[in-house]
Amino acid sequence: MEPKMAKKGPYAVELEAGKEYYFCTCGESKKQPFCDGSHMETDFSPMAFKAEKTGKAFLCGCKKTNNPPYCDGEHSKT
Ligand code: FES
Repeated sequence: MEPKMAKKGPYAVELEAGKEYYFCTCGESKKQPFCDGSHMETDFSPMAFKAEKTGKAFLCGCKKTNNPPYCDGEHSKT
């Protein structure tokens, strides 16, 4: 099963160092790029991660990044 492309590009978000976040891997969440529980209907589960630093981060919207949860530019190849 392929994840849904939530957005063809990254989401710019403000993260707090050391805080845990749940990145949506299925693409169905209405609270992108974070999980809102919508994956229940899919085979996906959210990816828990801790922010390494406080500040702006670009999280993957196409859900095809090779470096989740961060955007690696993969969206521009599709
Ligand atoms: S809503 Fe997509 S992983 Fe939870």
